[in-house]
Amino acid sequence: MFRVGIIGCGGISAVHAQVIKELENTELAACADVIPERAARYGCAAYTDWRELLDREKPDAVHLCTPHYLHPIMTAEAARRGVAVFTEKPPAIDASGWEQVKEAATRVPVGVCFQNRYHPHIQSCLRFLREGIYGELRGIRAFMTWNRTAEYYAAADWKGKWATEGGGALINQAIHTLDLIVGFLGVPDQAEATLRNHHLRDAIEVEDTAEIYLRKGNVPALLYASNAYSQDAPVILELHFDQAVIRLEGDLMTVIRDGKKQEIPCVTDPVLGRSYWGAGHKACIADFYRSIETGTPYQNAPASCDATMQTLLKLYSQWKDK
Ligand SMILES: NC(=O)c1ccc[n+]([C@@H]2O[C@H](COP(=O)([O-])OP(=O)(O)OC[C@H]3O[C@@H](n4cnc5c(N)ncnc54)[C@H](O)[C@@H]3O)[C@@H](O)[C@H]2O)c1
Repeated sequence: MFRVGIIGCGGISAVHAQVIKELENTELAACADVIPERAARYGCAAYTDWRELLDREKPDAVHLCTPHYLHPIMTAEAARRGVAVFTEKPPAIDASGWEQVKEAATRVPVGVCFQNRYHPHIQSCLRFLREGIYGELRGIRAFMTWNRTAEYYAAADWKGKWATEGGGALINQAIHTLDLIVGFLGVPDQAEATLRNHHLRDAIEVEDTAEIYLRKGNVPALLYASNAYSQDAPVILELHFDQAVIRLEGDLMTVIRDGKKQEIPCVTDPVLGRSYWGAGHKACIADFYRSIETGTPYQNAPASCDATMQTLLKLYSQWKDK
């Protein structure tokens, strides 16, 4: 049985706590949050100092559900004590933080919460690509149009700021879609972004909208991501192959071939938490502990995130340097 701690007990932590309680090989031993009531919300040992949790509880693993800028230091400090780390995305917001996370992964198991990689339709698309079922990949396009208001940003002091969130719509909301795109495309030869703040200029420093162009060889990938929409619409991700177009919209996959459309719905695990977080957390976390137990590589280890992180950090640094 893995004794697990959660550091950061805000919004997403509820999903982690539920999964840790549901899995047969994990128990929630302790939580830490700078806000004492939050640290106590799951009824286990509660700390306001996360280092104290590590030193006194000596957990087998911790889940980081804290603001983005804290992920690398918390990962490094846990690794120094031999504690495995499952970190929420993004694992880092700058190059030095990302190096810290990769270094930690040479010492202890580290997993990154890119749960959408576990979606059955994403797994199918990876197989189409691997086995050349619809021929060569010609292009990718994706739309993430969600709604994040001034109230959303006002509710957490770290969101909306370069220093603590590291960006906006791209690093926080669209990072999952970027990760899937890079997973299909590989490390892009060209990566360019235009970042804008259309609707929250007085509320946040970071972008509410990002337009991304990636290219690998002669395969383009376009991503439009915005938090300025009226609702959290299902993400659309489309792969253009020689012989078919595969369109994913939420849990629906449509195969468009020879002018005909075939719709393939998907039954996933129940969604824990908000619908736009998807249903992948349980599979992603269960697989992390399975990999530790069996001593086998973890699908979402930092090495598997390097192409996404290098691309993400390049997109931001290029834009900021303009
Ligand atoms: N994978 C997903 O689909 C998904 C969805 C939502 C959020 N997230 C990620 O989860 C993380 C948390 O997001 P959230 O929306 O839950 O944020 P949040 O602001 O609701 O929660 C963060 C918590 O961390 C606490 N905290 C801040 N500094 C701390 C410190 N030094 N020590 C201990 N606790 C501290 C805060 O008090 C707060 O309770 C982010 O990385 C976010 O991107 C991932």
